[in-house]
Amino acid sequence: MGANCAVNLAHKELGDVVLVDVVEGVPQGKGLDCLQSGPIEGYDVMVTGANDYEPTANSDIVVITAGFPRKPGMSRDDLLMANYEVVKTATQKAAAVSPNAVIILVTNPLDAMCWTALQVSKFPKNRVIGMAGVLDSARFRTFIAQELKVSVENVTAVVLGGHGDTMVPVTRLSSVAGIPLTELLDEATLARLVDRTRNGGAEIVKYLKTGSAYYAPSAAAVEMVESILKDKKKVLPCAAYLEGEYGINGLYVGVPVKLGSEGIEKIYEIQLTPEEKAQLDKSAAAVDELITVIKSKMTA
Ligand code: LAC
Repeated sequence: MGANCAVNLAHKELGDVVLVDVVEGVPQGKGLDCLQSGPIEGYDVMVTGANDYEPTANSDIVVITAGFPRKPGMSRDDLLMANYEVVKTATQKAAAVSPNAVIILVTNPLDAMCWTALQVSKFPKNRVIGMAGVLDSARFRTFIAQELKVSVENVTAVVLGGHGDTMVPVTRLSSVAGIPLTELLDEATLARLVDRTRNGGAEIVKYLKTGSAYYAPSAAAVEMVESILKDKKKVLPCAAYLEGEYGINGLYVGVPVKLGSEGIEKIYEIQLTPEEKAQLDKSAAAVDELITVIKSKMTA
């Protein structure tokens, strides 16, 4: 996942990239390999690898992908405490040398790991963001486009909530070239696509057996990086720390945000139907459960 991010970042020449991993030699080797694609692909950025965080000092963006991936049959939540320790350490070390960075979390269970990084880094909430909604909505868009046999470029989709089995793909707010999705597909089909989106990560884990998806997740993280570094102010669904928005307090949940040089520059609070709101609340409750577990086991 991290290496894929590096390749995508280099291709877009978004900046110099430092890969960090605890395994000796792996980040250095992957970094060098990525760097050597430059003359062929025509990109001119530095890509290096390290086993410590010193070479990452003064980064503009830190993308945290470190952690254990799922195995078949596991939910993202099964990774909770193992990845808590990994994310805690990575955040501490990265934040210490790059105090002004925007941190983008990718590690699962995503929303709980965002919360962990916010606590550990003590960064303002606009600079600690989770990658999930861009991926989940990309999956939803893919399935919609396949179903209708139209270009994915015409499909926009909104997915709210936690990055878990309770995520909330909002069909009412999704469209194809402005045509509401609800006018194009019947309820049963929509329900099937929503279900496949919710299980989109697990579908891939089941195929791969030894890991989880990484092409689409890294593309999603890189879209966020690009919007921040270029101050594009794209409106993207991301995990954001909510303090009262949507009636949710003190949790990371996926919502539409504006991403610019300050990180999250605005959280969009959209009017939901009672049914959508109930689904979002259920998803937030699932995130809250994980935070409660972390709090009860938290190490200093
Ligand atoms: C997925 C993992 C990255 O959804 O959470 O594929």
